[in-house]
Amino acid sequence: MPSVAVIGAQWGDEGKGKVTHYLAQQADMVVRSQGGNNAGHTVVVGDQVFKLHLLPSGILYPGCQAVIGNGVVLDPEVLLAEIDYLEGRNIDTSALVISDRAHLILPYHRLLDALEEDGRAERKIGTTRRGVGPAYMDKNARYGIRTVDLFEPSRLRELVIWNVERVNRVLERVYSVEPVSADEMLSICTTAAKRLAGLVADTSVLVNAALDQGQRVVFEGSQGTFLDIDHGTYPYVTSSHPVAGGVTIGSGVGPSRIDRVLGVVKAYTTRVGDGPMVTELSDETGERIRQVGHEFGTTTGRPRRVGWLDGVMLRYAARVNGLDALALNHLDVLSGMDTVRLCVAYELDGSRLVHYPASLSALERAKPVYLDLPGWPAFSPEISRRQELPGAAETFLQAIEQEVGLPLAVISTGRERGHTLILDDLFSPVQHSST
Ligand code: IMO
Ligand code: MG
Repeated sequence: MPSVAVIGAQWGDEGKGKVTHYLAQQADMVVRSQGGNNAGHTVVVGDQVFKLHLLPSGILYPGCQAVIGNGVVLDPEVLLAEIDYLEGRNIDTSALVISDRAHLILPYHRLLDALEEDGRAERKIGTTRRGVGPAYMDKNARYGIRTVDLFEPSRLRELVIWNVERVNRVLERVYSVEPVSADEMLSICTTAAKRLAGLVADTSVLVNAALDQGQRVVFEGSQGTFLDIDHGTYPYVTSSHPVAGGVTIGSGVGPSRIDRVLGVVKAYTTRVGDGPMVTELSDETGERIRQVGHEFGTTTGRPRRVGWLDGVMLRYAARVNGLDALALNHLDVLSGMDTVRLCVAYELDGSRLVHYPASLSALERAKPVYLDLPGWPAFSPEISRRQELPGAAETFLQAIEQEVGLPLAVISTGRERGHTLILDDLFSPVQHSST
């Protein structure tokens, strides 16, 4: 089975980086298809912790090609800083390739992100203020500047000046703030052009060629299903398509080329930013999970909102992504609790909802219907078989499988990369030729 899409099945931060990183050891290529540096992946390798925002996690694994696909929005300053950060920690980044069709995030996108957020007052989305939304707006409004433009100086100059003039009208007339300078934007682009020369290519050709040759390709999702612009809790979403369908558009491969779709979930739910969250815990149980699970944003450092695992959400994620299996992270975080809850339905105005509703007011009023299960004691992160888990933990896992109608393919038992039970042949480690 050569290609796997790793998809966030909740509101992001599900631990996709850990699963991708695990898969990368048997992969030839890891591809990112959407999002930008709003993503934040913490990957633990031995005693080293890496925090990545833009580069695919596969970059940490020797011999694995890391691809930034056309669907990603790319902040050149962040990209170069991240390359330097990894090189500074002796990680070879030479296996990086960037799509010539990826759109750029420039400083005015970041500025507009902040101004638009502040202007929304009580309707704030809680964006990461990294300019991701405004960059996708420009892309869809057909103003965008793509990486390919970096290498055509006269066209680049024209595009930058045209955009800066347009943006400055908005900055001055709508927001009454200082205009931005075209020269500053051009200098960022020129630096990027110099350093990225040789890294930018038609990545669709590369990814399809890899698949043609039977190479193992991992599509690494960013964000999650409920942040999807179409399928998420609109308008409290990001501006891209984290669902499995986004992989094909954002990488330039056809849907038939994705052999397996793996949904990554935590044993509970978290959310950064605003918007409805039916199973949210605002009490000390939530605080305990936040502390034990280190639930603070990788990108913004914000404390994450925490709640019980929501089976209604997971069934929805299973459907809109066509998930084949689940990878469950952070099971250990729930160890030591008296009772663990799994939401199996919502109650709304006296009736039972089994499908996740589109209406924000329905989501705000919906009450979770819980299955209460006994907790389990702490277990060793080093266990090597599912059968070694405490009985009550196994009962919880079976309840999830039954509720969602999907098997678990991966269970994470601790923070480190090795603390992972792989229940499926697909993931059995294969020695990479270059290692
Ligand atoms: P990873 O890849 C969690 C959230 C933001 C905000 C909303 C819109 O680490 O799972 P944006 O800056 O994208 O316009 O913000 O989306 N958000 C994430 N939350 N994990 C992420 O990525 C996120 N990327 C965006 O908090 O609510
Ligand atoms: Mg994150």
